[in-house]
Amino acid sequence: MPKHPVMGDGLPPALVELLGTDVEVLPWDDTPQSPALARAVGIITYGHPTVDGSLMDRVPHLKIISNHGVGVDHIDVAAAEARRIPVGNTPGCLDASTADMTLALLLAVARNVVVGDRFARSPEFTHYDPSILIGQEVTGSTLGIVGMGRIGKQVAKRARAFDMRVLYHNRNRDESAERDLGVTYATLDQLLADSDFVSLNCPLTPATTGLISRREFGLMKRSAFLINVARGPVVDHDALYEALVRHTIAGAALDVTAPEPLPRDHRLLTLGNLIIAPHLGSASNRTRRRMIEMTVENLFAGLRGDELPYRVKSRSGFPA
Ligand code: DGY
Repeated sequence: MPKHPVMGDGLPPALVELLGTDVEVLPWDDTPQSPALARAVGIITYGHPTVDGSLMDRVPHLKIISNHGVGVDHIDVAAAEARRIPVGNTPGCLDASTADMTLALLLAVARNVVVGDRFARSPEFTHYDPSILIGQEVTGSTLGIVGMGRIGKQVAKRARAFDMRVLYHNRNRDESAERDLGVTYATLDQLLADSDFVSLNCPLTPATTGLISRREFGLMKRSAFLINVARGPVVDHDALYEALVRHTIAGAALDVTAPEPLPRDHRLLTLGNLIIAPHLGSASNRTRRRMIEMTVENLFAGLRGDELPYRVKSRSGFPA
């Protein structure tokens, strides 16, 4: 039986294994004479590479684009819809793990976990010193969540365990979240001004690109921290650098950057009041397994011409 040629760039081995013997994985090649583009019936991505209308037009047999992940800002979904190519993603399964990571970064940056680790390994650590590395108390503080989608709600749920007051900003007010999670709607400016921690949990859209820039950092408390587990371009990195160097905010923790990774000589990497993780939001064993399964389920449904179990619909605006 002929195999289905499917193109993907550096796919996780466990995903390739689950695709099984019916699929031939073609290495990513979008050069002008690419034999892979000419043959592929499916494309699998995971946050990259960019799949726009012009690329789709060069894949004459394309039946399905399956993304291993929920964020599809690298795929022109409207262009795919116009060409009747379904786009699949993996919603839901990573909400808890991404919220866990949000809290992990929040706690780590607030309580100097990374700086403390470096210090504890160094010869300078000679005795317990009660006056060093005194962090920001998390319990009872105010958290501002930008993007009250599925992940934002999971973050709010966890924040309650820390007795945090939770503000949120979203394109639309979510009265059921207010009722169920005890969160309070705020304009973006109010949220920035009142929060001790600002957590970005929104998708990357035209409306959220550069959402947190100089003006927004200027509204934040000098003692506040920014946590970004959304997408790098939501934050203006030059403005972030200035805010951290001038201590107009206390610190930041980024799971995502723009570009990703940052060049090794990027000036953000020199700062002690910044933590950077290599896009680990959904990187837990159970979540990553489910993401693989959903990616493969979508792919095979698309190859068969069936409705995808997890299909992305084009949308605009902020946030989902
Ligand atoms: C997602 O699912 O979008 C995460 O960022 C992992 O890629």
